[in-house]
Amino acid sequence: MDQAEMLRSIMEEEGGTSKPSEIPSRERNEGVRVIAVTSGKGGVGKTNIAANFAYITALKGKRTLLVDADAGLANIDVILGITPEFNLYHVLRGEKKLSEVIVTGPGGIRILPASSGIAEMTDLSRGSKLTLLEELQDIDEPLDFIFIDTAAGIAGNVMYFNMVAKEIVVVVTPEPTSLTDAYALIKLLYKNYGAKRFKLVTNMVKNAAESKAVFSRLSRATEHFLNLSIDYLGLIPFDPRVQETVKRQCLLAQGYPKSKAVQSLKSIVDKLMKEEPDTYDRGTIKFFGRSCIERL
Ligand SMILES: Nc1ncnc2c1ncn2[C@@H]1O[C@H](COP(=O)(O)OP(=O)(O)OP(=O)(O)O)[C@@H](O)[C@H]1O
Ligand SMILES: [Mg+2]
Repeated sequence: MDQAEMLRSIMEEEGGTSKPSEIPSRERNEGVRVIAVTSGKGGVGKTNIAANFAYITALKGKRTLLVDADAGLANIDVILGITPEFNLYHVLRGEKKLSEVIVTGPGGIRILPASSGIAEMTDLSRGSKLTLLEELQDIDEPLDFIFIDTAAGIAGNVMYFNMVAKEIVVVVTPEPTSLTDAYALIKLLYKNYGAKRFKLVTNMVKNAAESKAVFSRLSRATEHFLNLSIDYLGLIPFDPRVQETVKRQCLLAQGYPKSKAVQSLKSIVDKLMKEEPDTYDRGTIKFFGRSCIERL
């Protein structure tokens, strides 16, 4: 009997019922999609993309949590204009429960804020990584999506959050360094951490032709050198209104819902929502991969 069944049988014995709202969270959230938004090079648009994904899924009636996993230089709070009192740092220090730290943002999205400028957050200890994993697994609210906005690069924290997620969206721009850094990130996640599927989003592109060219350069490299196929998820055009909305501390999808960039973001979200969650590598840990614990 697993923990969820045990809890349910205790509830029944105690005269409770097993209505959906009373089913333990671990079981309720078994189907949650945990998606990392990541990149090799910094400044390619991850935070904006992750936040807009979260907002758009919430508008579509999904229960969504946005995790700020750029633990050194957090900025989801800045782009959303929120000033949370507590953050991930307090959870990892055991001072707060996750439920005391998560706040509600635009469109009802739930946000797990990070902290800025705390050196120890840039290199989480194994203990902290396990604490966070446990807290996320025991989260006491039902969720359909968790989007994790990671830091850029190939540091241990970035690897960790990508492994926690299992579904990995890699953001690239047409800049050559963005491509080479994306390749380095994919190579490391594939070879050292066993990640097998990567979904590419091109950002700040001029048009579909440029986006396809970026995708084909990267996918040719991964196929040739790693024997690995990557998926094309979609493109987001360059739009100066992204910067403008960042300054106004609102999301593009809030400020310019009819813009081409938002239509692109929406079609990417539709595509993500239609996909079956990845089923490979399912371990006994129900909602995050066992593999990520073994590799910590
Ligand atoms: N589609 C776009 N068109 C124009 N500007 C964009 C677009 N997407 C993002 N930007 C701008 O690029 C900059 C970087 O965006 P963002 O902070 O989301 O990137 P990031 O990948 O999260 O960066 P970091 O690696 O530092 O966390 C911001 O100034 C943002 O306004
Ligand atoms: Mg960012």
